[in-house]
Amino acid sequence: MNPDDAFDSDLSRRRFLRHAAWAGAAVAVTVSGGVVTSNVLHRGSPTPKAEDFSFVQISDSHIGFTGAANPDVTKTFQSAIDVVNSLPARPDFVVHTGDLTHFSTNEQFDQVKQMLSTLRTGQVLVLPGEHDSTDDAGEKYRQFFGAGTQGDGWFSFDHRGAHFVALVNTINLQKLGHLGPEQLAWLQGDLKRVSSETPLVVFSHIPLFAMYPDWGWGTDDATTALGYMRRFGSVTVLNGHVHQLMKKVEGNITFHTAAPTAYPLPHGGDGPAPKPVVVPAGQLHQALGIRQAHLVPGRHGLAIADQELP
Ligand SMILES: [Fe+2]
Ligand SMILES: [Fe+2]
Repeated sequence: MNPDDAFDSDLSRRRFLRHAAWAGAAVAVTVSGGVVTSNVLHRGSPTPKAEDFSFVQISDSHIGFTGAANPDVTKTFQSAIDVVNSLPARPDFVVHTGDLTHFSTNEQFDQVKQMLSTLRTGQVLVLPGEHDSTDDAGEKYRQFFGAGTQGDGWFSFDHRGAHFVALVNTINLQKLGHLGPEQLAWLQGDLKRVSSETPLVVFSHIPLFAMYPDWGWGTDDATTALGYMRRFGSVTVLNGHVHQLMKKVEGNITFHTAAPTAYPLPHGGDGPAPKPVVVPAGQLHQALGIRQAHLVPGRHGLAIADQELP
């Protein structure tokens, strides 16, 4: 997406105007490469009122994967896009929580970017999975999707009275399931400027709770990150990576793992390794899906609706 086109989108324009109205001061909004980052309200600014809106999460498309678990990952990714584009209410934005590709070529990265650009939404946000990044320490990922992000690709933004943070815990094998001190310091500073009443939504690829650490389904320094979020009234964390739905509540924080668009994985510990599961013919679509998340002011956490692919 051309950055200028992106800035012209409804979402960005509304966000910019809202920022200007809230903060009553100069606000930097950057839209680049399909990713939005913005500096949040100045300390002491009035807390914006949360509004009713929805967005969509899709995850784990693995374009480039070949195997019996899904002989045509492009087709199922397209099917997920079609489902999003036929939703009765256009989502304000769509976030892809990583593993867009499967150790892929530049051409496949470009294909994913083109396909994402057909989503009927105000903005597309992306974060990396380990299949997008560990083969070259995230070089291709940053080339295609890193513009406007910080560090290894993390970013935050405000939208309609909620604060969103995208964290990266996958960029290379040394940083797999790890946020690192630089990102944690950034997160701490980012959240300091946000009032505790603001609904907080966090995206990551690998879960921020210990779902099954023996398979790398956890983030070793997540406790520090979650500690910065304890004072918030409502925190929702949405992740990918595990290719299955799961919900977990820890105090004020609710975690939701997402269905993939590519292929299912076993339940944690079910077998020797998290290898793609081959399901009987005709049943794959039931293991795949998209997620609508609806922010309802006054409700604790997001209303989540997971939907299988047709
Ligand atoms: Fe994945
Ligand atoms: Fe992954």
